[in-house]
Amino acid sequence: MSLDWLAGPAGALRGEIRVPGDKSISHRAIMLGAIAEGSSHIHGFLEGEDTRATARIFAQLGVRIEQPSEHERIVHGVGLHGLQGSDEALDCGNAGTAMRLLTGLLAGQAFESVLVGDESLSRRPMRRVIEPLERMGARIEASGDGTAPIRINIKNNLQGIDYKIPVASAQVKSALLLAGLYAQGETHVHEPHPTRDYTERMLAAFGSPIAFRPGEAAMLGGFALKGTDVDVPSDFSSAAFFLVAASLVPGSDLLIRKVGMNPRRTGLLEALRLMGADITEEARTEQGGEPVADLRVRYAPLQGIHVPERLVPDMIDEFPALFAAASLAKGETLVTGAAELRVKESDRIAVMSRGLRALGAQIDERPDGALIRGGRLRGGETESAGDHRIAMALAVAAQVADAEVRIGDCANVATSFPGFAELARDCGFGLRLA
Ligand code: S3P
Repeated sequence: MSLDWLAGPAGALRGEIRVPGDKSISHRAIMLGAIAEGSSHIHGFLEGEDTRATARIFAQLGVRIEQPSEHERIVHGVGLHGLQGSDEALDCGNAGTAMRLLTGLLAGQAFESVLVGDESLSRRPMRRVIEPLERMGARIEASGDGTAPIRINIKNNLQGIDYKIPVASAQVKSALLLAGLYAQGETHVHEPHPTRDYTERMLAAFGSPIAFRPGEAAMLGGFALKGTDVDVPSDFSSAAFFLVAASLVPGSDLLIRKVGMNPRRTGLLEALRLMGADITEEARTEQGGEPVADLRVRYAPLQGIHVPERLVPDMIDEFPALFAAASLAKGETLVTGAAELRVKESDRIAVMSRGLRALGAQIDERPDGALIRGGRLRGGETESAGDHRIAMALAVAAQVADAEVRIGDCANVATSFPGFAELARDCGFGLRLA
């Protein structure tokens, strides 16, 4: 049965909140902890279905992972060559990060693996990782159209690669670097536009001799990793829904504490400020080697913009929230250069456009974006197509709709943001189960 929400309209959003740990960093902390020597203590781990799937997979591969309390894991690393194969398929659920990074990591193992995922993940393109991994010598089979299930055959002599990644994708880059740990010689990757560099930073923190700068990373294979502690900051992508909601709802004044501010993640902040949002950064500091800040957001009338294409990779997960903001802003917002949105957990251009149109928005889809004419939204029924970020973005838009909105299929919010509905209600959202 589908889990539906009844959302909005809300009064002013107020208070102080903290959102859960970063999804990208939580996945990587488990992965590197598992293949390091010694133990790694993770604080602030995201208790989402995606990141738990990664932890479950490493337990299946013979890694002991303790959970002393919620948001905490102690990973007892088995070293680069200590993983044990599993006869059962490894289930990544909805998590693209798990599947793509694991394809790289498992390509260098002395055992065979099969990676599977849910319906959405089984539609997503995997050739972008398989192709370069095959050039490194891996033997990988996918279904005819390059999707999961993925079978990774035994191959013990990967070679380093010098590879220009055709799409801006941190997942592709990370898969190659993780395979590079097991390769002979140097693995050198070049990106068309810099993407989040968590894999590089974390490899360095685990003692790998990796050299990197925005858009490029190079490492030598064969070096052992040393377990280390990881302090996971709050996920900017989860904070994003509250940044947009408080910008839209008159009278709002919300403080979101200790948000991860890696510049490869905060493109939405710049886009919202170009639209006229009133967001200030307070108490800037560092947590686990990442910049963090408290973000204070107050209601401000928003104006449509042409979203600068240079911001697209730095806000790639934030377009559902941006579409919600744009559909309620004054004037037109144009999104271009964002074709990658069509291969996320859903086709986010199509599903978000359809979801907002059902509430009266005027949106023209483009192959690589959309033209969104801002206006008012009415109550009614709409659909998230099982995409976590679309469900949350529609719930945000509903806060300023004329009447309540029923949003279908919201269960997958737990993949990245367990507790979203409760936290949102605490600061004033209208949001309840249907
Ligand atoms: C992620 C990279 C991005 C992003 C995803 C998480 C990561 O995907 O959309 O939510 O953790 O590396 P792409 O690399 O496909 O752009």
